This record gives sequence, structure tokens and C-alpha cells, in this order.
Amino acid sequence: MTDIEYLKKYLDPSRLEEGMKQLEQGLPVQYIVGDVNFYGYPIKVNRSVLIPRFETEELVDRTIRYVKQYLGESIRIADLGTGSGCIAITLKKELPSADIVAVDISKEALDVARQNARLNQVAITFLEGDMLKPLTGKFDLIISNPPYISKEEKIMDIVYYNEPHQALFAPHQGLYYYEQILTHVKNYLNQHFILAFEIGYQQGESLRQLAKALFPYADIQVEQDLHGKDRFLFIIKHD
Ligand SMILES: C[S@@+](CC[C@H](N)C(=O)[O-])C[C@H]1O[C@@H](n2cnc3c(N)ncnc32)[C@H](O)[C@@H]1O
Repeated sequence: MTDIEYLKKYLDPSRLEEGMKQLEQGLPVQYIVGDVNFYGYPIKVNRSVLIPRFETEELVDRTIRYVKQYLGESIRIADLGTGSGCIAITLKKELPSADIVAVDISKEALDVARQNARLNQVAITFLEGDMLKPLTGKFDLIISNPPYISKEEKIMDIVYYNEPHQALFAPHQGLYYYEQILTHVKNYLNQHFILAFEIGYQQGESLRQLAKALFPYADIQVEQDLHGKDRFLFIIKHD
């Protein structure tokens, strides 16, 4: 679907003229319409949050399958860098008996995530802070789609000029948040656990090695997206 077709389909006709102008000015259609469909659920978006991506739906889908296979459904989950809340909200919808905490460093993003939780009628605990730091207690699943673009990487103008840089870029070739989380996460994990990450397509090998060094007793899987690119990292400790 072209952007114009998207606007015609999803924007209230009374806002179409204004929407067309915003499109000409370079605003992404999802911000103009104001919400997206994520895994079948409505998620409101504005310029305080990343526009949820298709790959992230895949991350959630694979994670739900691994949770059902290895952990069962009455589990504690933390979503780090929740943004619009799309991951946490979908997990709560699909695994209703899970207890879910979602963290973001951006107060504005958390406002949007809270609105989305209300819209989808799910109870999630939202915490403001730096990744693992606001968490207390132990978790069975820790999931994150952190900022992972290297500051040196050239990205599309429409992304660079509209989406929050705090949601996109990370130091150390984009690996910084994975390193932070993986190095400190052990204290937050139950005996059996799943760590699930979306990753950059050039980061699979470095992250596989880091994960192997830190979790030598766990299954480590780098998995590919529909384009055949490395996109997901799972670290799974089960019986
Ligand atoms: C790539 S976006 C992912 C948003 C959402 N989870 C998704 O998948 O669409 C990364 C998110 O991490 C948040 N973030 C960046 N640095 C953070 C930090 N140090 N602690 C917690 N959240 C952080 C950003 O505000 C942003 O919402």
C-alpha cells in the first residue's frame, strides 16, 4: 500500500487534507494517523515513541512460542525500553496470567505506553528508569528491543528526522545496551529463564559470542527475520 492509500484507508476523511500536507512535509504516515495495528492490537503512536516494526511482531511471536514450550504461562516478565508498550501489551494479551513490568527512560514514551495499556485494557506496571535498574525481584522472561543503531550508520531521512534518537542510537557499534543488560541481568533471573532480544542485522556474531561467554550453560540462538538477516537473539535456560 502506498502512503497516500494508507492515509485514505486509515485517516478520518475530515483530516485528509491536513494529513496530505503532513505527508508532503515528510512525516511518517503512522504518526499522521496516530495509531498502528501491532499483532492485531491498536497501539497509539506519536513522536515520543518508535513506530512499532514488523520484525518486533516476529520477536513477540517467537517469544510466545518459546514461553509456552519452556516456561508455562504464569510467569514474571520485564520489557526493557518499552516505548509505545507494544511488546508488553501484546504479551499480556496473549499470556494473560503473566505479571508484566515495562521500563523506559523516557517519561513521554511511558505516557503513551500507559494510554495504550488502558486502550487495550491490560494491567502492566510501568517504571521510569535505566533498563534493569528500576527492577526488583526475579523474572522468567526478560525481553528487549533496545536502541541498536550505531551512531555512524546512515539511516533513512524519514526515520532520522522523525523518530526519537533515544529510541534508535546506541554507542559501541550499537551494542551498548545488549552489553549492559547481559552483563548485569543474572541477578534478575529465575533458575529457568528466557532472554529475548531484537538485534541489528550485523550484530548476530558479536552477540552470540558475548552470550556464550556469559551464559555457557544456556541455549543460545541467533535467528533470522523474513529477509534472512540476523534479527533475534534468544538465550534460554530450561530443564
Ligand atoms: C527501539 S525502541 C523500542 C520501543 C518498543 N519496545 C518497540 O519495540 O517498538 C527503544 C526504547 O528504549 C528506550 N530507552 C533508551 N535508552 C534507555 C535506557 N537507558 N533505559 C530504558 N529505556 C531506554 C527508548 O526511549 C525507546 O522507547
